Amino acid sequence: MRRLFVAGNWKMNTNLASGKELAKAVAAEATRLGDVIDVAVCPPFPYLASVKTELQGSKVKLGAQNVWFAAPGAFTGETAVEMLTDVGCSWVILGHSERRQILGEKDELINKKIAAATSEDLGVIFCIGELLEDRQAARTEAVLETQLAGGLANLDAAVMGQIVIAYEPVWAIGTGVTASPEQAEGAHAFIRGWLTKQYGAKVADGVRILYGGSVKADNAEILLSQPNVDGALVGGASLTAAQFGPILQAAAKCAAAG
Ligand code: 13P
Repeated sequence: MRRLFVAGNWKMNTNLASGKELAKAVAAEATRLGDVIDVAVCPPFPYLASVKTELQGSKVKLGAQNVWFAAPGAFTGETAVEMLTDVGCSWVILGHSERRQILGEKDELINKKIAAATSEDLGVIFCIGELLEDRQAARTEAVLETQLAGGLANLDAAVMGQIVIAYEPVWAIGTGVTASPEQAEGAHAFIRGWLTKQYGAKVADGVRILYGGSVKADNAEILLSQPNVDGALVGGASLTAAQFGPILQAAAKCAAAG
């Protein structure tokens, strides 16, 4: 069985004090649950190093929300892969729909970023997902296929161990509307099928596919019980320990149930 992975995407939220406090509470809860699931928090850039300090002594990993693909140099405002690993990041979120929609990131740029991260020791949470209009027009699988093929272009099987896919239907992000367990499982099974065609069953079986989009304490367990749902990428509900804690507990319960 793939080890469940729950990551909190804090997006552009918290401040230094509240971020440190939240990290400390997540670390305490993860430690209390024991080493049964993987947990990560992804704070805004200015707080990465301080949050890392709060996570010390726990198994909670640190993730960033973006990276640039080039080596350090003249790129005003950007952050290189080795800077993220230098401050203790294990993960970076790439391909998020907010960056695709608001900042216009295309598959080709996302692919360069994924290649740069995986050429160093940085894991990638690679987000894909369809718009509501795509789902309504029965284009979900075509969109997922295009995003997978574009984002993972020229990446061979050897780096797939460093990549986690996050299926985040755009219509479910921050809306309170969650994909049904059947919709999530259907999309995840499609993604695994695509990975199987591309990389073979052995590699595809090892890749974790997280679900993201209005994951809350009361829907986490049913979503995480689906055979191809290997964790969650949580936005809004990752911003308080009171909401994120029960999601971690649900994951630990699913892990124990096997
Ligand atoms: P919400 O959990 O707030 O819907 O956000 C999901 C998300 O975008 C995680 O990356």
